[in-house]
Amino acid sequence: SHPRVCVIGSINMDLVTTTKKIPKKGETVLGERFETFPGGKGANQAVTSARLGADVSMIGAVGNDTFGKALLEHFKSEGISQKGISIVPDISTGVAAITVSENDNRIIVSPGANSKVNPKILDEAQDVIIASDIILLQLEIPMETVQYTVEFAYKHKIPVILNPAPFQFIPEDILEKVTYLTPNEVESVSLSEMPLTESIKEKMIITKGEHGVEFISKSGEPKTIPGFKVNVKDTTGAGDTFNGALATELARTGDLDQSILFANAAAALSVERFGAQGGIPDRKEIITFIEKAKTRRNE
Ligand code: RIB
Repeated sequence: SHPRVCVIGSINMDLVTTTKKIPKKGETVLGERFETFPGGKGANQAVTSARLGADVSMIGAVGNDTFGKALLEHFKSEGISQKGISIVPDISTGVAAITVSENDNRIIVSPGANSKVNPKILDEAQDVIIASDIILLQLEIPMETVQYTVEFAYKHKIPVILNPAPFQFIPEDILEKVTYLTPNEVESVSLSEMPLTESIKEKMIITKGEHGVEFISKSGEPKTIPGFKVNVKDTTGAGDTFNGALATELARTGDLDQSILFANAAAALSVERFGAQGGIPDRKEIITFIEKAKTRRNE
């Protein structure tokens, strides 16, 4: 049967401008092109899990506007259950203003309806949450809701991956109760500035882009697996692809080390195409990619 992944998180429309030159304070520059893409860390992770064969339920909120409608349509086309998505009146759908330039992306998120993802929305989706094999969380919805979800999952013994992005201070009891924490390098530095117990440190899976992934392997040893060499077009959403793939594989196999390897490959492939979700690969592509990389390493 298919792994059941529940994502509770943000849904955005990404407004992406490509530019060679990044404006300085007070400066106007001419960019290159503009496109809109479905995005939001929650949604990107949900789409990844769905493309990798999971049964995915998305819990979140959009506004009653054009972007919201387009994003609901998009979930449908990806085969993601949207019963848990609320349409909130009088507030805009979340948007992310993104500038992509060479080796760089900058993002400003206006949360809009994502700020209305409250514990009540979760209560309405209780059955879906209880039926899931794993839960994925990020920090683009209110911390109160993250906390509520973590407590609920802990009580029902459902594993939780918390992707602490964008970074905010996280209450320690949340950190104690999640199963895995998946910061990127910058977020891991912020996390390490908080007093962390050994048991929290052991659940950290740190994604370091081209430098690979650092984690404590199932044998208890610290381990770093290398990154892959790829042609980088757009790194937006690479972390989300990692998280969606990790959740799906963990739910499918329960094998941490293998799941991280797989997620690392998924994220590497995702940066070769434009848009947060544009590059999310399917299972076959990932397997072929891993095989090819192995042969190359043996040559
Ligand atoms: O992680 C990438 C995502 O961050 C983008 O899709 C954007 O919407 C922001 O949420």
